[in-house]
Amino acid sequence: MIVYDKGNGTYTLHTRRTTYQMKADAHGVLLHTYYGPRLDGEDLSRLIQYADRGFSGSPNELGRTDRTYSLDTLPQEYSTCGVGDFRLPSAEAEQADGSLLLDLRFAGGEIRAGKYALEGLPAFFGDSWETLSVRLRDPHSGMEAELLYGVDEEDDLITRAVRLINRGKETVRLRRVMSFCLDFRGADMDLITFDGGHVRERRPARAPLRPGVQSVGSLRGTSSHQHNPFVILCGHDTGEDHGLCYGAALLYSGGFLASAERSQFEDCRLVMGIHPHHFCWTLAPGETFTAPEAALVCSPDGLAGMTRCFHRAIRERLLRDPCRGRRRPVLINNWEATEFHFDADRLVGIAREAASLGVELFVMDDGWFGSRDSDMSGLGDWTVNEKKLPGGLEALVPRIKALGMQFGLWIEPEMVSEDSELYRTHPDWALGAPGRPQARGRAQLVLDFSRREVRDHIYEALRRVLDSAEVDYIKWDMNRSLSDVWSAALPADRQGEVYHRYVLGVYDMLERLHRDYPAMLMEGCSGGGGRFDAGMLYYTPQIWCSDNTDAIDRLTIQCGTAFCYPAGTIGAHVSAVPNAQTGRCTPMETRGVVAMCGTFGYELDLSRCTPEEKETVRRQVQTYKDRARLIQEGDYYRLTDPFYEERYAAWEHVSPDRREALVSLVTGSARAAMPFLALRLKGLDPARRYRVNGGELFGGAALMYAGYPLPLFQGDYQAVQLYLEAVD
Ligand code: GLA
Repeated sequence: MIVYDKGNGTYTLHTRRTTYQMKADAHGVLLHTYYGPRLDGEDLSRLIQYADRGFSGSPNELGRTDRTYSLDTLPQEYSTCGVGDFRLPSAEAEQADGSLLLDLRFAGGEIRAGKYALEGLPAFFGDSWETLSVRLRDPHSGMEAELLYGVDEEDDLITRAVRLINRGKETVRLRRVMSFCLDFRGADMDLITFDGGHVRERRPARAPLRPGVQSVGSLRGTSSHQHNPFVILCGHDTGEDHGLCYGAALLYSGGFLASAERSQFEDCRLVMGIHPHHFCWTLAPGETFTAPEAALVCSPDGLAGMTRCFHRAIRERLLRDPCRGRRRPVLINNWEATEFHFDADRLVGIAREAASLGVELFVMDDGWFGSRDSDMSGLGDWTVNEKKLPGGLEALVPRIKALGMQFGLWIEPEMVSEDSELYRTHPDWALGAPGRPQARGRAQLVLDFSRREVRDHIYEALRRVLDSAEVDYIKWDMNRSLSDVWSAALPADRQGEVYHRYVLGVYDMLERLHRDYPAMLMEGCSGGGGRFDAGMLYYTPQIWCSDNTDAIDRLTIQCGTAFCYPAGTIGAHVSAVPNAQTGRCTPMETRGVVAMCGTFGYELDLSRCTPEEKETVRRQVQTYKDRARLIQEGDYYRLTDPFYEERYAAWEHVSPDRREALVSLVTGSARAAMPFLALRLKGLDPARRYRVNGGELFGGAALMYAGYPLPLFQGDYQAVQLYLEAVD
């Protein structure tokens, strides 16, 4: 609910459990007055204090004598630039006269039913939203900012986005446009970021805010393996189930910046948006620039509450999931089994074996097109390699379908190999500055997706393939970071637009696929989880979480990922041992339990499995099918912290009505004289009794407060799964 109080001028955004408030003061400065646990009927601007602080000057209209009013000390909704607030600016606009000054004052607000939409960008959607649009104007330049707020009351989610509009007479160059600015009174907080690298994504790093600015971001043109566009601010004592915390997720798949500044007065400002590195957007009179959306959750009851809000909102109001209301198919992918070396019979053999064990979707990974016999060639030539697959998909797909399976295809549309027909014909279609040889990544160059004709060419080629057979799924991969970002289609003074135009180009292509193939399931991928962000999830409701399929490493990678993103979005597969990334051997059972915390599948040569292993696969597939709804739609609980607890990692999915739960536990390396352990469960109904794995009955309260007795495990990396069903 959004309330405008005419009497005191406050705009108050209420969700079920939280309140967010702003108010334009007598000078038209839009003050941020509160974000926290729900409060009704208050004007919280009365908490704002005014004092004469040295080196914090005052706006001109205050005159020479009133020195107590300063933009440098006030909490604001969208900070100004260069006019007296010396903390992080939200936007920078270079005017025709070369000045970089931006003063934004209140020019009106409007409350609307429904959710605003953002042209060409991902955004949360749904019917039950309300929108607040606030206009701010720079009295001197004609620059206008439209601050957009979406309120999803049920999920305790508030979204923000910004449009910058040039209402002046001269062209302006935008150098920085953050999607939001969030000021906090008091900076006694920790910042949690999710960091890592290829094959070790999204490990939480938590540290108290120190004076000055601390940032994470990406200069890679993608959201990156290294830092995720999701951050948390919380109290020093905030824990899993208690304390206040704020999560912020940016719906953007390109280079981003998240900066938290602890000011001299121990306040905190958080800004997040497109990374300003090499960003410069020319805005002619009358033009609008739209910054990507961000989603905010404030949780009064710890990190777990925040996670569940994000999970619900993403599931219900961000994913455009062709499988909505149904289970996603269990898949088998041939990559780890064959890499580039296969023919139709080999693929059909893998699919046949998988189908006989209950697997439902066969995905043909890299190597099916052009001259793609290794990663040195072929990208850009999206025609079936008839040497490997005579007769094309027209011949292969019916053979897969005859097994009762769906068919899926791997693509990497953003890339080109120098050894390809496409590159030989259009070398200028790759990003790269004239006369400067480009850096390679995985021996490939990046196509200039900021250019429409490049996208059209690739799209038409893909369409021909997709229309040649019934394709149920695609995996959209992206296997390098952007370098040499220069487009032959833009003049020198607009090269600062290429990074962002590239991302808009990717979104445009994904949107076309959505439009033309609404029933096709899309999985995102970038060398595993290099582009696992809320922006991609709008187009691809599942994302391959990591190229690291080691079950023990996956415990932390998936746990870090699941701080924001729900299980149904996390691509997780059982692969062969010794694991390709770590050389570690884990039992098949354990690999299955770990992969079930995501969109379940296999990535190995089942014909090499023993009869016992195949029997395990058959059981796992059935278990996943039986429990998929619970995993995909249930509430997720972290029962241990796998980043610190080495003895075992445990997590739980509980159905919304709390009548069912699935508990998963995996042990670390074996140790002698294991202590007697009882695992305390969460989220159950204390008044109900639950039957565990079809056997003994336990009270919900007893399971939560006293725990479930764990067996004395023998051997490394053991797993148990407990299925709980309420009996009364
Ligand atoms: C990336 C993906 C893998 C696989 C290969 C194919 O590394 O993450 O899953 O598709 O590319 O080249």
